[in-house]
Amino acid sequence: MKIRKQCALVALQDVRTYLNDEGGQIAVFDATNTTRERRDLILSFAQDNAYKVFFVESICDDPDVIAENIMDVKVSSPDYPERDRESVMEDFLKRIECYKVMYQPLDPDKHDKARSFIQVINVGQRFLVNHVQDYIQSKIVYYLMNIHVHTHSIYLCRHGESEYNVEGLIGGDSGLSARGKEFARALRTFVEDQRLAGLKVWTSQLKRSIQTAEALGVPYEQWKILNEIDAGVCEEMSYEKIKRDYPDEYTSRDQDKYHYRYPGGESYQDLVQRLEPVIMELERQGNVLVICHQAVMRCLLAYFLDKSADDLPYLKCPLHVVLKLTPVAYGCKVDMFDLKVEAVNTHRNRPKPRQEVPPALLRRNSFTPLSSQDQVKRPRLFSMGNPPRIPLPPSLASTEHRPLLVKFVQVSISGE
Ligand code: F6P
Repeated sequence: MKIRKQCALVALQDVRTYLNDEGGQIAVFDATNTTRERRDLILSFAQDNAYKVFFVESICDDPDVIAENIMDVKVSSPDYPERDRESVMEDFLKRIECYKVMYQPLDPDKHDKARSFIQVINVGQRFLVNHVQDYIQSKIVYYLMNIHVHTHSIYLCRHGESEYNVEGLIGGDSGLSARGKEFARALRTFVEDQRLAGLKVWTSQLKRSIQTAEALGVPYEQWKILNEIDAGVCEEMSYEKIKRDYPDEYTSRDQDKYHYRYPGGESYQDLVQRLEPVIMELERQGNVLVICHQAVMRCLLAYFLDKSADDLPYLKCPLHVVLKLTPVAYGCKVDMFDLKVEAVNTHRNRPKPRQEVPPALLRRNSFTPLSSQDQVKRPRLFSMGNPPRIPLPPSLASTEHRPLLVKFVQVSISGE
């Protein structure tokens, strides 16, 4: 117990460093936190630092879900290097029994009446939401009410090669080239071979994406928000023409492609925000095939594969290739299918060497949690028994600085 408490304190130091020094806005403190005493410790830490706390308590008493969770998640966890399925199951069920002795659930009627939290019952069968304080907390509730854990796959591809792709022009609304039409037919065969019950097909409202879906011979839905990035004054130009006619714009985009916004058009950052409803719907649905565009596919891929804002605009999404994403515990499995229909290459590599540009010269919209420039995954700053590599600053107690702390109480199905 002593070691475990020490671990929790070290993790809270990480939280503080992340929120106070590293520009973090929301920290997820992921642990079982099954006792009032432990939750009080977290609440007093949050109070000292002027953070808000939102608890997420997952309550599961469905034996089938528990067994499935142990098999899918725990067998591959570092707690069980032996990976012997039967002994893991036995040990983890014992662990749950131990937790039950100590476990004090959140009490919405009395003790925790004033706390902000959501109780997720049997993996989304029912929810209890208490005292939501702000926009971010309501978004967290919305998100948690929409995600599910049923096995499903998301198929992402671009439209077939378009006439503009062949001519090297960006944007516009041209139709498919002959090879693009061939891809659409190959996609039909691919979809039929996959034998996907209840597959939904989504397209943008641009001709090339609709023409690709038409060839499948199945119903499909058009989403305007799946349209390609709006290149504003550069629409229907080639990259060479942009470089010639708008040299400053061309350079600025190369310097910070994620934040760069075309005059009269959009940035990748804008696109990420535009795509949020699609992402949420993809979380809710079963099997879906999204026939979209280069920039749009990069944004969707970055969300599911957890790529940084810096890498997102350079993800490779070639024409005539289908990516199958299957969410699994702690990530996403990716399968790639090249349908072997030739197409032009529309990918531009990241320019090298990368030049630094003064931030003032960049045209960008506001920062959002998704747009943090510094999304490099770092190892923990501190570990048990090691002193911090950088000194801890005094806690920030100003009421103006109120980042959010989201704490996970995970009980029964997924112990620490
Ligand atoms: O070239 C095809 C295209 O879909 C254009 O319509 C779009 O402007 C471009 O790709 C986006 O890619 P990038 O951000 O690399 O210019």
